[in-house]
Amino acid sequence: MVIHVMESKEIASDLAANKIAQQLERKKNTVLGLATGSTPQLLYRNLIAKYQTNQISFQDVIAINLDEYVGLDGSHPQSYRYFMDTELFNHVDIKKENTHVPNGMAEDLDEECKRFNELIKSYDYPDIQVLGVGQNGHIGFNEPNDRMFVHTHVEPLTENTIKVNGRFFEDKNEMPRTAISLGMKNILCAKHIILLAFGKEKADAVAMLEDDRFSTACPVSLLKLHRNVDVIVDREAASKLQHA
Ligand code: F6R
Repeated sequence: MVIHVMESKEIASDLAANKIAQQLERKKNTVLGLATGSTPQLLYRNLIAKYQTNQISFQDVIAINLDEYVGLDGSHPQSYRYFMDTELFNHVDIKKENTHVPNGMAEDLDEECKRFNELIKSYDYPDIQVLGVGQNGHIGFNEPNDRMFVHTHVEPLTENTIKVNGRFFEDKNEMPRTAISLGMKNILCAKHIILLAFGKEKADAVAMLEDDRFSTACPVSLLKLHRNVDVIVDREAASKLQHA
């Protein structure tokens, strides 16, 4: 794991975008594992700019997202399908059929989890997995717990996540209580992981990356078990690291 402390989230997002651009150059049919939320927004803007200036193409790229709220249709502005379409997919040359987000409206959620799990496996997992991190250390929607899920599953969201993410919902009661999420094995099977974290709210979670231990009480710390992780943070997110 390499922790890169950058002066600002803009510079951090540039570094992440450049790493992804290099990957797309190496392999046109790259499998990209993608996250939603506020953290990757600048990264996606940066990738759109690279596409618009003919530096990269998504024509053969496969995109597989980490998670989706249960009960939100893709047309709901807070759904992760809507986020991906409006923040990235609609602005680049990716084929819509190559974009995969779990279906939070599936009648049979267990079947949907199985389908999604088979899907990511059939692509031999992402070449690059982009991750953000929750204030409580969650990655995807793998929340802190004694026992965590290995594969794609329905995760009950913690009170903390419901509060933090609920701020984006006009009607707080609309905030879902569960989400479909890739499990820890799905995430750890990615060939390369880029974790982004910005702002002082993420400092505690980032501080858990520094020593040699991991704990399911802080899921992001399980990334220490992976052999190829770039953690790219701004100064605020790095503020509780001892050796930054
Ligand atoms: C989103 C996801 C979540 C977010 C995390 C941070 O697809 O998997 O783990 O990365 O909740 O969210 P932001 O970036 O909004 O702080």
